[in-house]
Amino acid sequence: CGIVGIVGHQPVSERLVDALKRLEYRGYDSAGVATIDGGALHRRRCEGKLVNLEAKLKEQPLAGTIGIAHTRWATHGAPTERNAHPHFTDGIAVVHNGIIENFAELKDELTAAGAEFQTDTDTEVIAHLVARFRRGGMGRREAVHAMLKRVRGAYALALLFEDDPSTIMTARNGPPLAIGHGVDEMFLGSDAIALAPFTNEITYLIDGDWAVIGKTAVHIFDIDGKSVTRPRQVSMAAAHPIDKGNYRHFMEKEIYDQPEAISDTLSHYINFLDNRVVEVSGDIAFANVQSLAISACGTAYLAGLIGKYWFERYARLPVEIDVASEFRYREIPLSPQAAALFISQSGETADTLACLRYCKEHGLKTGAVVNTRESTIARESDAVFPIFAGPEIGVASTKAFTCQLAVLAALAVAAGRARGAVTEKEEQILVERLAEMPRVMAQVLDSIQPKIERLSRELAKCRAVLYLGRGTSFPLAMEGALKLKETSYIHAQGYAAGELKHGPIALVDENMPVIVIAPHDRFFDKTVSNMQEVAARGGRIILITDEKGAAALKLDTMHTIVLPNVHEIIAPMIFSLPVQLLAYHTAVFVGTDVDQPRNLAKSVTVE
Ligand code: G6P
Repeated sequence: CGIVGIVGHQPVSERLVDALKRLEYRGYDSAGVATIDGGALHRRRCEGKLVNLEAKLKEQPLAGTIGIAHTRWATHGAPTERNAHPHFTDGIAVVHNGIIENFAELKDELTAAGAEFQTDTDTEVIAHLVARFRRGGMGRREAVHAMLKRVRGAYALALLFEDDPSTIMTARNGPPLAIGHGVDEMFLGSDAIALAPFTNEITYLIDGDWAVIGKTAVHIFDIDGKSVTRPRQVSMAAAHPIDKGNYRHFMEKEIYDQPEAISDTLSHYINFLDNRVVEVSGDIAFANVQSLAISACGTAYLAGLIGKYWFERYARLPVEIDVASEFRYREIPLSPQAAALFISQSGETADTLACLRYCKEHGLKTGAVVNTRESTIARESDAVFPIFAGPEIGVASTKAFTCQLAVLAALAVAAGRARGAVTEKEEQILVERLAEMPRVMAQVLDSIQPKIERLSRELAKCRAVLYLGRGTSFPLAMEGALKLKETSYIHAQGYAAGELKHGPIALVDENMPVIVIAPHDRFFDKTVSNMQEVAARGGRIILITDEKGAAALKLDTMHTIVLPNVHEIIAPMIFSLPVQLLAYHTAVFVGTDVDQPRNLAKSVTVE
């Protein structure tokens, strides 16, 4: 979902759609654009992808030098053309990301006063509210301000007024909004990536801000209506071309980007001259904290789970971890002696951001492991640990996951050193192993593709797949299952190998592929016992192991993928590669929309 707007002096509709394309990666299921031309509002909306909107605009072009546009990820109301934004009411056009939590109450109130709703969305109450305030005699600004005081929830908004073809009004509470400064033109976007072709001079609104954007200036106000200034900064987004290169999908490209991305990540966290981790902990004094709380969502949460093993093992630091949507409401007793880490590719995920604010309120020092240094989570945290993965466009996270892991590994070693839990010698060994990652990754990516493709062809025919692992391979098993289900729509579940006999074994038969992630580590023999249990019931085992594991195994598998032997601190990143490629190729065989799987969004700025 995303928002863009342009107040310009040249036609805007094509550029608005181009900017929406740069937000496509966030996921959406309908789209629309509105302009003002000849003193009237005009719009085109479509179900489905932007190609539909482009085709419609080709047949029925939209003139106008001011406009707003939107990609919608349905929350209230089906993803139909009727529910697509912009919504029009009484000469007011509105686009919105987020959720208006008190919309039902407002809708009742407005309906009772005579408003006629045309959609099932929560958004439409915004336009009706503003229209009502205007009918009551308020000016445009006053009406928008009054509306903001009535709505509760999360929003990034843009409004056009038919009777004012020179300004866009906008407001933020939750989902991010960036204002772009051009030459005699101003822009608005959900992020700086959307605006990169137009400008890299960006002003970010903060929560509670609202603004009036004209061709040459922007006036920003806080929720009390007081004029405020927000810094103008140069965004890095423009520097990165967003292009699939020779790959079929962004997901494939991003999988193959990993050796380079990880090498970039490591260069910021490791000093290769003396094989020590760089002192980066900033405001988090790991030496003094008593425990660490980690929260995140989706793939980032699974990276955090692997991180937990490392912080506990290498830094002897107890870790409390949960998905952010639970963490924020669990009423966890948090001690100010604890520190908290938030892992988020986008740095904008609503639940993760809420956890960050919750921990700050409880006096914890906070750190953000993010891919977007300009993001809200990064800005509000005491310490920022960027992952340097570069833009990740595929909705299913791949390189951000392994780069998050690389950062967490380096931080765990740094914490271990600070706490006297690893010696200098041990630190050097761990760092040497971390430094091998880009080379080993490249070697693995070079060699496993044909085998994975053959295997994926078979997986594509399955209805359900089980993933098993122990130790850090357990969260990786969950990540493998998540990746497979989100990209190929095949049901998959990741389990701790030891839990097999407590439930999932009931599912095992000759139709059930069981993917076992088992490097030859201290758990290997135990995992082999679990594989025996699967084999004894006719289950089809697909084993992902290393050379030592393959040599030690005395058991028939349906397939074995053999990776090089690696140290256990880098095993999760190396073993991620076959796991990601399996999901990718299976999705290609199933024929799904790999980069933008149905119903998913890349950046989830609603609860
Ligand atoms: C969405 C994405 C996932 C991502 C999760 C958390 O569900 O589809 O790929 O892992 O959000 O996003 P974040 O930006 O906080 O890492």
